[in-house]
Amino acid sequence: MKVLVTGGTGYIGSHTAAELLMSGYEVVIVDNLSNSEASVAERIARITGKNPAFYIGDVLDEALLDRIFSEHKIDAVIHFAALKSVPASMSNPLLYYHNNVSGTLSLCRAMHRYEVKNIVFSSSATVYGISDDKPIGEDAPLSPKNVYGNTKLMMETVLTDLYRSDPEWNVTLLRYFNPIGAHESGLIGEVPAGVPGNLMPYITQVAAGLRPHLNITGTDYDTPDGTGVRDYIHVVDLARGHIKALENSRGLGIYNLGTGRGYSVREIVRAFEEATGVKIPCVEAPRRPGDLACYFADPSKANTVLGWRAEKTLHEMCADSWRFAKSYYGKA
Ligand code: NAD
Ligand code: UD1
Repeated sequence: MKVLVTGGTGYIGSHTAAELLMSGYEVVIVDNLSNSEASVAERIARITGKNPAFYIGDVLDEALLDRIFSEHKIDAVIHFAALKSVPASMSNPLLYYHNNVSGTLSLCRAMHRYEVKNIVFSSSATVYGISDDKPIGEDAPLSPKNVYGNTKLMMETVLTDLYRSDPEWNVTLLRYFNPIGAHESGLIGEVPAGVPGNLMPYITQVAAGLRPHLNITGTDYDTPDGTGVRDYIHVVDLARGHIKALENSRGLGIYNLGTGRGYSVREIVRAFEEATGVKIPCVEAPRRPGDLACYFADPSKANTVLGWRAEKTLHEMCADSWRFAKSYYGKA
Protein backbone atom coordinates (compact mmCIF):
# COMPACT_ATOMS: atom_id res chain seq x y z
CA MET A 1 0.00 0.00 0.00
CA LYS A 2 1.34 3.39 -1.03
CA VAL A 3 0.64 6.46 1.10
CA LEU A 4 1.12 10.09 0.10
CA VAL A 5 2.23 12.07 3.16
CA THR A 6 1.82 15.83 2.70
CA GLY A 7 4.02 17.85 5.07
CA GLY A 8 6.07 14.67 5.47
CA THR A 9 9.34 16.38 6.42
CA GLY A 10 7.61 18.28 9.24
CA TYR A 11 7.51 17.26 12.89
CA ILE A 12 4.56 14.85 12.99
CA GLY A 13 4.74 13.95 9.27
CA SER A 14 8.35 12.74 9.52
CA HIS A 15 7.58 10.47 12.48
CA THR A 16 4.53 9.13 10.68
CA ALA A 17 6.51 8.52 7.48
CA ALA A 18 9.08 6.58 9.52
CA GLU A 19 6.41 4.48 11.25
CA LEU A 20 4.70 3.79 7.91
CA LEU A 21 7.96 2.60 6.32
CA MET A 22 8.74 0.45 9.38
CA SER A 23 5.27 -1.10 9.06
CA GLY A 24 5.82 -2.07 5.40
CA TYR A 25 4.00 0.79 3.65
CA GLU A 26 5.50 2.61 0.68
CA VAL A 27 5.72 6.36 1.29
CA VAL A 28 5.65 9.38 -1.01
CA ILE A 29 6.34 12.73 0.65
CA VAL A 30 5.41 16.17 -0.64
CA ASP A 31 6.58 19.19 1.34
CA ASN A 32 7.35 22.78 0.35
CA LEU A 33 9.95 23.06 3.15
CA SER A 34 8.30 26.23 4.50
CA ASN A 35 8.80 24.80 8.01
CA SER A 36 11.20 21.89 7.61
CA GLU A 37 14.46 20.84 6.01
CA ALA A 38 15.11 18.53 3.05
CA SER A 39 17.66 16.55 5.13
CA VAL A 40 14.75 15.11 7.14
CA ALA A 41 13.96 12.77 4.21
CA GLU A 42 17.50 11.34 4.46
CA ARG A 43 17.12 10.97 8.22
CA ILE A 44 13.90 9.02 7.72
CA ALA A 45 15.83 6.75 5.35
CA ARG A 46 18.59 6.31 7.96
CA ILE A 47 16.07 5.34 10.63
CA THR A 48 14.12 2.91 8.48
CA GLY A 49 16.65 1.66 5.91
CA LYS A 50 14.09 2.58 3.25
CA ASN A 51 13.88 5.61 0.97
CA PRO A 52 10.61 7.52 0.75
CA ALA A 53 9.92 9.15 -2.64
CA PHE A 54 10.29 12.88 -1.99
CA TYR A 55 8.85 15.83 -3.93
CA ILE A 56 9.77 19.35 -2.85
CA GLY A 57 6.72 21.45 -3.67
CA ASP A 58 3.40 22.85 -2.61
CA VAL A 59 0.03 21.16 -2.22
CA LEU A 60 -1.41 24.31 -3.80
CA ASP A 61 0.42 23.34 -7.00
CA GLU A 62 -2.10 21.10 -8.75
CA ALA A 63 0.26 20.40 -11.66
CA LEU A 64 2.74 18.96 -9.17
CA LEU A 65 0.00 16.89 -7.52
CA ASP A 66 -1.01 15.58 -10.97
CA ARG A 67 2.60 14.55 -11.53
CA ILE A 68 2.77 12.74 -8.18
CA PHE A 69 -0.57 10.93 -8.64
CA SER A 70 0.37 9.89 -12.16
CA GLU A 71 3.86 8.69 -11.19
CA HIS A 72 2.59 6.71 -8.20
CA LYS A 73 -0.44 4.52 -7.60
CA ILE A 74 -1.44 6.21 -4.35
CA ASP A 75 -3.89 4.30 -2.12
CA ALA A 76 -4.32 6.84 0.68
CA VAL A 77 -3.25 10.33 1.71
CA ILE A 78 -2.24 11.55 5.16
CA HIS A 79 -2.54 15.31 5.05
CA PHE A 80 -0.24 17.17 7.47
CA ALA A 81 0.79 20.12 5.28
CA ALA A 82 -0.37 23.30 7.01
CA LEU A 83 0.83 26.38 8.82
CA LYS A 84 0.34 26.03 12.58
CA SER A 85 1.28 29.14 14.52
CA VAL A 86 -1.67 30.63 16.41
CA PRO A 87 -0.22 34.18 16.73
CA ALA A 88 0.92 34.22 13.06
CA SER A 89 -2.56 33.09 12.00
CA MET A 90 -4.08 36.08 13.83
CA SER A 91 -1.75 38.60 12.16
CA ASN A 92 -1.90 37.02 8.70
CA PRO A 93 -5.28 35.32 8.32
CA LEU A 94 -5.30 35.39 4.51
CA LEU A 95 -2.05 33.45 4.36
CA TYR A 96 -3.47 30.85 6.78
CA TYR A 97 -6.79 30.46 4.96
CA HIS A 98 -5.00 30.24 1.62
CA ASN A 99 -2.30 27.78 2.63
CA ASN A 100 -4.41 25.55 4.86
CA VAL A 101 -7.90 25.66 3.37
CA SER A 102 -7.08 26.27 -0.31
CA GLY A 103 -4.23 23.74 0.02
CA THR A 104 -6.71 21.13 1.23
CA LEU A 105 -9.15 21.95 -1.61
CA SER A 106 -6.33 21.61 -4.13
CA LEU A 107 -5.31 18.25 -2.66
CA CYS A 108 -8.90 16.94 -2.59
CA ARG A 109 -9.44 17.99 -6.21
CA ALA A 110 -6.34 16.05 -7.25
CA MET A 111 -7.45 13.03 -5.21
CA HIS A 112 -10.85 13.23 -6.91
CA ARG A 113 -9.20 13.31 -10.36
CA TYR A 114 -7.19 10.19 -9.59
CA GLU A 115 -10.02 8.47 -7.68
CA VAL A 116 -8.06 8.26 -4.46
CA LYS A 117 -10.75 8.37 -1.78
CA ASN A 118 -8.90 7.66 1.47
CA ILE A 119 -7.68 10.57 3.56
CA VAL A 120 -6.47 10.94 7.13
CA PHE A 121 -6.45 14.57 8.20
CA SER A 122 -4.47 16.38 10.93
CA SER A 123 -6.99 18.27 12.95
CA SER A 124 -6.45 19.68 16.41
CA ALA A 125 -8.03 19.84 19.84
CA THR A 126 -8.02 23.57 19.20
CA VAL A 127 -11.34 23.07 17.31
CA TYR A 128 -13.07 22.56 20.68
CA GLY A 129 -11.96 25.86 22.16
CA ILE A 130 -13.33 24.92 25.58
CA SER A 131 -11.79 24.63 28.98
CA ASP A 132 -13.06 22.20 31.53
CA ASP A 133 -11.91 19.81 34.17
CA LYS A 134 -13.62 16.94 32.38
CA PRO A 135 -12.12 14.91 29.52
CA ILE A 136 -13.17 16.23 26.09
CA GLY A 137 -15.07 13.78 23.89
CA GLU A 138 -15.46 14.05 20.12
CA ASP A 139 -19.03 15.32 20.50
CA ALA A 140 -18.00 18.36 22.60
CA PRO A 141 -19.11 21.69 21.07
CA LEU A 142 -16.81 23.10 18.39
CA SER A 143 -15.78 26.68 18.90
CA PRO A 144 -12.24 27.54 17.81
CA LYS A 145 -10.92 30.77 19.28
CA ASN A 146 -8.31 31.75 16.68
CA VAL A 147 -7.73 31.83 12.92
CA TYR A 148 -5.58 28.68 12.96
CA GLY A 149 -8.42 26.82 14.71
CA ASN A 150 -10.92 28.25 12.23
CA THR A 151 -8.88 26.85 9.34
CA LYS A 152 -8.91 23.40 11.00
CA LEU A 153 -12.68 23.48 11.46
CA MET A 154 -13.18 24.67 7.86
CA MET A 155 -11.05 21.81 6.56
CA GLU A 156 -12.97 19.33 8.71
CA THR A 157 -16.17 20.72 7.15
CA VAL A 158 -14.81 20.41 3.59
CA LEU A 159 -13.81 16.79 4.18
CA THR A 160 -17.07 15.91 5.92
CA ASP A 161 -19.08 17.38 3.02
CA LEU A 162 -16.92 15.46 0.56
CA TYR A 163 -17.74 12.23 2.37
CA ARG A 164 -21.45 13.13 2.41
CA SER A 165 -21.36 13.74 -1.36
CA ASP A 166 -19.80 10.34 -2.03
CA PRO A 167 -19.80 7.72 0.75
CA GLU A 168 -17.07 5.78 -1.08
CA TRP A 169 -14.68 8.23 0.58
CA ASN A 170 -12.98 7.22 3.82
CA VAL A 171 -12.36 10.43 5.76
CA THR A 172 -10.65 10.27 9.15
CA LEU A 173 -10.32 13.45 11.17
CA LEU A 174 -7.73 13.10 13.93
CA ARG A 175 -7.87 15.75 16.62
CA TYR A 176 -4.46 15.83 18.25
CA PHE A 177 -3.89 17.11 21.75
CA ASN A 178 -0.32 18.29 22.56
CA PRO A 179 2.38 16.36 20.71
CA ILE A 180 5.86 16.43 22.25
CA GLY A 181 8.83 14.02 22.24
CA ALA A 182 10.90 12.82 19.32
CA HIS A 183 12.07 9.62 17.66
CA GLU A 184 14.28 7.64 20.04
CA SER A 185 17.11 7.70 17.47
CA GLY A 186 17.46 11.45 18.10
CA LEU A 187 17.52 11.97 14.31
CA ILE A 188 14.14 13.63 13.86
CA GLY A 189 12.14 15.88 16.14
CA GLU A 190 10.53 19.28 16.44
CA VAL A 191 12.46 22.30 15.15
CA PRO A 192 10.63 25.51 16.06
CA ALA A 193 10.95 28.51 13.76
CA GLY A 194 11.99 31.58 15.78
CA VAL A 195 11.02 31.91 19.43
CA PRO A 196 9.13 28.75 20.37
CA GLY A 197 5.46 29.36 21.17
CA ASN A 198 4.86 25.91 22.63
CA LEU A 199 6.02 24.69 26.01
CA MET A 200 8.37 21.76 25.28
CA PRO A 201 10.41 23.44 22.52
CA TYR A 202 10.86 26.41 24.84
CA ILE A 203 12.01 24.15 27.68
CA THR A 204 14.55 22.39 25.44
CA GLN A 205 15.96 25.75 24.31
CA VAL A 206 16.36 26.78 27.97
CA ALA A 207 18.04 23.44 28.66
CA ALA A 208 20.36 23.99 25.68
CA GLY A 209 21.36 27.41 27.09
CA LEU A 210 19.73 29.35 24.23
CA ARG A 211 17.30 31.10 26.60
CA PRO A 212 17.83 32.11 30.23
CA HIS A 213 14.60 30.81 31.73
CA LEU A 214 11.09 29.53 31.05
CA ASN A 215 8.25 32.02 31.50
CA ILE A 216 5.38 30.14 33.14
CA THR A 217 2.52 31.92 31.43
CA GLY A 218 -0.23 31.91 34.05
CA THR A 219 0.08 30.75 37.65
CA ASP A 220 -3.40 31.73 38.84
CA TYR A 221 -5.54 29.29 36.87
CA ASP A 222 -8.16 27.22 38.62
CA THR A 223 -5.95 24.12 38.45
CA PRO A 224 -4.22 22.19 41.28
CA ASP A 225 -0.97 24.22 41.09
CA GLY A 226 -2.33 27.29 39.25
CA THR A 227 -0.58 26.52 35.94
CA GLY A 228 -2.20 25.36 32.69
CA VAL A 229 -3.01 21.67 32.27
CA ARG A 230 -2.69 19.89 28.90
CA ASP A 231 -2.77 16.37 27.49
CA TYR A 232 0.78 15.81 26.20
CA ILE A 233 1.22 12.88 23.83
CA HIS A 234 4.44 11.33 22.50
CA VAL A 235 4.78 12.05 18.76
CA VAL A 236 5.59 8.40 18.02
CA ASP A 237 2.33 7.30 19.68
CA LEU A 238 0.58 9.96 17.60
CA ALA A 239 2.28 8.69 14.42
CA ARG A 240 1.13 5.15 15.17
CA GLY A 241 -2.42 6.45 15.57
CA HIS A 242 -2.34 7.41 11.88
CA ILE A 243 -1.49 3.86 10.86
CA LYS A 244 -4.31 2.50 13.02
CA ALA A 245 -6.60 5.05 11.36
CA LEU A 246 -5.56 3.90 7.88
CA GLU A 247 -6.18 0.31 8.86
CA ASN A 248 -9.34 0.55 10.93
CA SER A 249 -11.32 3.67 10.05
CA ARG A 250 -14.13 3.38 7.50
CA GLY A 251 -16.50 6.04 6.19
CA LEU A 252 -16.37 9.26 8.22
CA GLY A 253 -14.45 8.88 11.48
CA ILE A 254 -13.52 11.53 14.05
CA TYR A 255 -11.09 10.64 16.81
CA ASN A 256 -9.26 12.38 19.61
CA LEU A 257 -5.62 11.36 19.88
CA GLY A 258 -4.43 12.05 23.41
CA THR A 259 -3.49 10.10 26.52
CA GLY A 260 -6.53 11.06 28.57
CA ARG A 261 -4.32 12.51 31.32
CA GLY A 262 -3.47 16.16 31.91
CA TYR A 263 -0.21 17.54 33.29
CA SER A 264 0.43 21.08 34.53
CA VAL A 265 3.33 23.26 33.38
CA ARG A 266 5.07 22.76 36.72
CA GLU A 267 4.66 18.96 36.43
CA ILE A 268 6.21 19.05 32.95
CA VAL A 269 9.17 21.09 34.17
CA ARG A 270 9.70 18.67 37.06
CA ALA A 271 9.43 15.61 34.78
CA PHE A 272 11.89 17.16 32.32
CA GLU A 273 14.41 17.89 35.08
CA GLU A 274 14.08 14.34 36.42
CA ALA A 275 14.38 12.71 32.98
CA THR A 276 17.38 14.76 31.83
CA GLY A 277 19.17 15.98 34.96
CA VAL A 278 19.07 19.52 33.52
CA LYS A 279 17.67 22.32 35.69
CA ILE A 280 15.10 24.65 34.09
CA PRO A 281 15.01 28.10 35.72
CA CYS A 282 11.42 29.41 35.74
CA VAL A 283 9.89 32.86 36.07
CA GLU A 284 6.21 33.46 36.77
CA ALA A 285 4.64 35.46 33.93
CA PRO A 286 1.15 36.72 33.01
CA ARG A 287 -1.37 34.49 31.25
CA ARG A 288 -1.19 34.30 27.44
CA PRO A 289 -4.25 35.96 25.93
CA GLY A 290 -6.82 33.38 24.85
CA ASP A 291 -5.20 30.52 26.80
CA LEU A 292 -7.35 27.90 28.46
CA ALA A 293 -6.85 26.60 31.99
CA CYS A 294 -7.21 22.89 31.41
CA TYR A 295 -7.98 20.51 28.64
CA PHE A 296 -7.36 16.85 28.08
CA ALA A 297 -8.80 14.17 25.83
CA ASP A 298 -11.28 11.41 26.24
CA PRO A 299 -9.44 9.02 23.86
CA SER A 300 -11.77 6.05 24.46
CA LYS A 301 -13.24 6.11 20.94
CA ALA A 302 -9.77 5.75 19.36
CA ASN A 303 -8.96 3.06 21.94
CA THR A 304 -11.99 0.94 21.08
CA VAL A 305 -12.64 1.63 17.38
CA LEU A 306 -9.08 2.08 16.10
CA GLY A 307 -7.47 -0.30 18.59
CA TRP A 308 -4.97 2.47 19.39
CA ARG A 309 -3.68 3.61 22.73
CA ALA A 310 -0.91 6.04 23.70
CA GLU A 311 1.77 3.96 25.41
CA LYS A 312 4.78 6.14 26.02
CA THR A 313 5.33 7.78 29.40
CA LEU A 314 5.94 11.43 30.27
CA HIS A 315 9.50 10.43 31.21
CA GLU A 316 10.05 9.12 27.65
CA MET A 317 8.47 12.24 26.14
CA CYS A 318 10.93 14.45 28.06
CA ALA A 319 14.00 12.26 27.53
CA ASP A 320 13.32 11.89 23.79
CA SER A 321 12.61 15.63 23.32
CA TRP A 322 15.94 16.41 24.96
CA ARG A 323 17.93 13.77 23.04
CA PHE A 324 16.88 15.33 19.73
CA ALA A 325 17.23 18.96 20.88
CA LYS A 326 20.65 18.31 22.41
CA SER A 327 21.97 16.97 19.15
CA TYR A 328 20.15 19.58 17.00
CA TYR A 329 21.50 22.49 19.06
CA GLY A 330 24.97 20.96 19.14
CA LYS A 331 24.99 20.19 22.86
CA ALA A 332 25.37 16.42 22.53
P1 NAD B 1 5.23 21.22 10.90
O1 NAD B 1 5.23 22.65 10.57
O2 NAD B 1 6.45 20.65 11.54
O3 NAD B 1 4.89 20.34 9.61
C1 NAD B 1 4.08 20.80 8.57
C2 NAD B 1 4.84 20.60 7.27
O4 NAD B 1 4.01 21.01 6.19
C3 NAD B 1 6.13 21.41 7.20
O5 NAD B 1 7.20 20.56 6.85
C4 NAD B 1 5.86 22.45 6.12
O6 NAD B 1 7.03 22.76 5.39
C5 NAD B 1 4.81 21.75 5.28
N1 NAD B 1 3.87 22.62 4.56
C6 NAD B 1 3.14 23.66 5.05
N2 NAD B 1 2.36 24.17 4.09
C7 NAD B 1 2.58 23.43 2.96
C8 NAD B 1 2.07 23.46 1.65
N3 NAD B 1 1.17 24.39 1.28
N4 NAD B 1 2.49 22.55 0.75
C9 NAD B 1 3.43 21.62 1.11
N5 NAD B 1 3.96 21.56 2.34
C10 NAD B 1 3.54 22.45 3.27
O7 NAD B 1 3.95 20.94 11.81
P2 NAD B 1 3.55 19.63 12.62
O8 NAD B 1 3.66 19.96 14.07
O9 NAD B 1 4.23 18.46 12.09
O10 NAD B 1 2.00 19.58 12.28
C11 NAD B 1 1.50 18.75 11.25
C12 NAD B 1 0.00 18.93 11.17
O11 NAD B 1 -0.58 18.64 12.43
C13 NAD B 1 -0.42 20.35 10.83
O12 NAD B 1 -1.55 20.28 9.97
C14 NAD B 1 -0.78 20.94 12.16
O13 NAD B 1 -1.71 21.98 12.02
C15 NAD B 1 -1.38 19.73 12.85
N6 NAD B 1 -1.34 19.82 14.32
C16 NAD B 1 -0.15 20.04 14.92
C17 NAD B 1 -0.11 20.12 16.32
C18 NAD B 1 1.19 20.38 17.03
O14 NAD B 1 1.17 20.74 18.20
N7 NAD B 1 2.36 20.18 16.43
C19 NAD B 1 -1.28 19.98 17.06
C20 NAD B 1 -2.47 19.74 16.39
C21 NAD B 1 -2.50 19.66 15.01
C1 UD1 C 1 -1.08 25.74 21.62
C2 UD1 C 1 -2.01 26.38 20.60
C3 UD1 C 1 -2.95 25.31 20.05
C4 UD1 C 1 -2.18 24.13 19.48
C5 UD1 C 1 -1.30 23.58 20.60
C6 UD1 C 1 -0.44 22.43 20.16
C7 UD1 C 1 -2.32 28.66 21.43
C8 UD1 C 1 -3.29 29.64 22.02
N1 UD1 C 1 -2.80 27.43 21.25
O1 UD1 C 1 -1.85 25.31 22.68
O2 UD1 C 1 -3.76 25.86 19.04
O3 UD1 C 1 -3.08 23.13 19.04
O4 UD1 C 1 -0.42 24.63 21.05
O5 UD1 C 1 0.50 22.86 19.21
O6 UD1 C 1 -1.19 28.99 21.11
N2 UD1 C 1 3.42 27.71 28.49
C9 UD1 C 1 4.28 28.34 29.35
N3 UD1 C 1 5.38 28.95 28.84
C10 UD1 C 1 5.68 28.94 27.50
C11 UD1 C 1 4.81 28.26 26.61
C12 UD1 C 1 3.68 27.66 27.14
O7 UD1 C 1 4.06 28.35 30.55
O8 UD1 C 1 6.71 29.51 27.12
C13 UD1 C 1 2.21 27.05 29.02
C14 UD1 C 1 0.90 27.54 28.42
O9 UD1 C 1 0.37 28.62 29.12
C15 UD1 C 1 0.03 26.27 28.53
C16 UD1 C 1 1.03 25.12 28.43
O10 UD1 C 1 2.31 25.68 28.70
O11 UD1 C 1 -0.55 26.21 29.81
C17 UD1 C 1 1.06 24.49 27.04
O12 UD1 C 1 1.26 25.51 26.08
P1 UD1 C 1 1.47 25.16 24.51
O13 UD1 C 1 2.55 24.16 24.37
O14 UD1 C 1 1.61 26.45 23.78
O15 UD1 C 1 0.13 24.41 24.07
P2 UD1 C 1 -1.40 24.91 24.10
O16 UD1 C 1 -1.57 26.09 24.98
O17 UD1 C 1 -2.22 23.72 24.43
